[in-house]
Amino acid sequence: MGNDKSENQWTIVFFSGTGGTRRAARELKKQMDLQNLNPSIFELGAGEIPDSVIPSTLEGMHIILLFPIYAFDAPSILYEWMEKTSFTDCDFIVISVSGGGEIWPNTGCRSPLKGQIENKGGTVVHEAMLIMPCNFYIPGSDHMNMRLLNILPQKVETLIKDLMEKRYNHSKSRLGFFQRIVSAAEKTGAHYTGSKLKTDEKCTGCGICAMNCPKENIEIVSSRAVFKKSCILCMRCIYNCPEKAIVSDSSFVLKEGFNLEALEERMKGIEVQPLEQCAKGLLWKEVRKYLSAPEFD
Ligand SMILES: Cc1cc2nc3c(=O)[nH]c(=O)nc-3n(C[C@H](O)[C@H](O)[C@H](O)COP(=O)(O)O)c2cc1C
Repeated sequence: MGNDKSENQWTIVFFSGTGGTRRAARELKKQMDLQNLNPSIFELGAGEIPDSVIPSTLEGMHIILLFPIYAFDAPSILYEWMEKTSFTDCDFIVISVSGGGEIWPNTGCRSPLKGQIENKGGTVVHEAMLIMPCNFYIPGSDHMNMRLLNILPQKVETLIKDLMEKRYNHSKSRLGFFQRIVSAAEKTGAHYTGSKLKTDEKCTGCGICAMNCPKENIEIVSSRAVFKKSCILCMRCIYNCPEKAIVSDSSFVLKEGFNLEALEERMKGIEVQPLEQCAKGLLWKEVRKYLSAPEFD
């Protein structure tokens, strides 16, 4: 990082659909505060810290971006924010939050955003991946997910240590052809899938979904939620509906829902299973590696 940036010029900017990335960002803020680094923190997309208050010009900052991976790429909301913000002499730390880890084809997931940062004159100095419970298509077991939540503070501690000691990792990985196709298809598919969401008779028209939608894609019409065409499939409306009234035919949506607080409640007082038992199979190979990294033995 440039020497001219003072130690306290840290900014965390994040987007989170269903809370995993928010937890990671908050943990980072908490630990950085303890080290008197005192970062500002901004949440994109109708979060509790509205992005409307993020300065439109950022200067001389270390900016830490955190986002969930959507189809091997960052959510479009990150690109939209970058587009409308100007950066002068900023160093970026790019943290992807994944359900599966550095498994191919996730490996290129930060590349397009890194390209955008460089186009805007920023410098990417470090990148890393955190793994949080998967909110999409294939759920992890409660035990594995609990392990991921439990290990987060240590992973964040390592990240901060790497930053402080300038132990940077900045790969040259690129998004391959297959990943680019899937990423583009996902964005179109999300608009389509989102526009086909419906509510059943349990919908009370309470408006929580509309209030929380990061794309202002939901309207309450005659006491029922109506879904428009700019959905990014962040899943926030579906999983947070208090009546479980939002229905989708898509196999991407976890039938059992997704709620980190409910997971912790279910797992209260239960001893987590050994890693080999709760994270079996090729799919969770990188998760096993992440959970059993030597520094956490
Ligand atoms: C539309 C969509 C696409 C996703 N694609 C990927 C992916 O390509 N690779 C991956 O590891 N996880 C993928 N995930 C899982 C999320 O990245 C992961 O669960 C993340 O922790 C969610 O963060 P959040 O709770 O902050 O929204 C996807 C999730 C969604 C909703």
